[in-house]
Amino acid sequence: MRRTIDWADGAIVIVDQTALPRDYRVLELRSVGELVDAVKRLAVRGAPALGAAGALGVALSAQHRGDVRADADLIAHARPTAVNLAWGVERALSKLDQGPDAVLAEALALLDEDEHLNKTASKHAADVVLAECARRPLRLLTHCNAGRLATVGWGSALGVVWHLHERGLVEEVLVDETRPLLQGARLTAWELDQAEVPYRVQPDGAAAAAMARGMVDCVLVGADRIAANGDVANKIGTYGLAIAARHHGVPFVVVAPSSTVDSTLADGAGIAIEERDARELTEYGGVPITPVAARVFNPAFDVTPHDLVTAVVTEHGVLRDGVLRGGVRSPGRRRSP
Ligand code: MRU
Repeated sequence: MRRTIDWADGAIVIVDQTALPRDYRVLELRSVGELVDAVKRLAVRGAPALGAAGALGVALSAQHRGDVRADADLIAHARPTAVNLAWGVERALSKLDQGPDAVLAEALALLDEDEHLNKTASKHAADVVLAECARRPLRLLTHCNAGRLATVGWGSALGVVWHLHERGLVEEVLVDETRPLLQGARLTAWELDQAEVPYRVQPDGAAAAAMARGMVDCVLVGADRIAANGDVANKIGTYGLAIAARHHGVPFVVVAPSSTVDSTLADGAGIAIEERDARELTEYGGVPITPVAARVFNPAFDVTPHDLVTAVVTEHGVLRDGVLRGGVRSPGRRRSP
């Protein structure tokens, strides 16, 4: 399977995530302006994929002998919440004094590492899920898209599903549609479809009801930024899911590469939350659906407090006290039957 984001013939090549699942098409981005536009439009999205985009964007600017530091600033600020974007930019910039080829080599090394790190993190998380949940096969619930499309390859939360599915341990994945941009209905469902994993798409508002009916053994999500105390920023709706999971005694597991941990932030209060265009809510498929004067609250992410999270898992394993200050606590929960 092709990488979600790659470098070929002097261009950044991405799978266009605005077109899926209708069209699988590939875009070549040949300027920093095109890359920034693709990031803002979510043609490339998901925290680890944004890290790759940041690094490759700096490499592109360096190859063109542009004002690399100014370009790096533009790229790093294209979206504010996923820390991986600025991390990828910084990592490529660190090689600038060694010349454009060294910058590109660093960006390509980051891409090469991504799949391995996500595979390792999601393998650790699969072990956590198996330890937390007694029922086999498992009924899993996920929100947004934390799959291959959100990374260079493999995925984080969906990566756990791939590991468990390989072992015949997945009964079904409930996929939150993920309003308003439908990353769940369009992208996660498409990935599960391709992999022939049984799934059902549900409205975001059905998640608590599914838990109340005993249909969910574990919630699995990715992250855009994890503060030092284990607070987790992820797609809007994640916080509500965590509250519902706690109420129903369902384990809530967060999976991410360690590049998503921002140890400069003591807690989630310092995480910048992107607010997106009102038209994502006032229109549906380009057709107005609200009164013309409707005002809108459209945050792209929310912050889940660490005490609602059963485990934050990276390639290093479960983050615990001493790694994340304040620690990640396991809620009192029931085990699934
Ligand atoms: O706005 P998006 O689609 O970039 O939001 C993505 C998410 O919230 C993902 O859950 C997160 O980046 C983790 S992806 C492995």
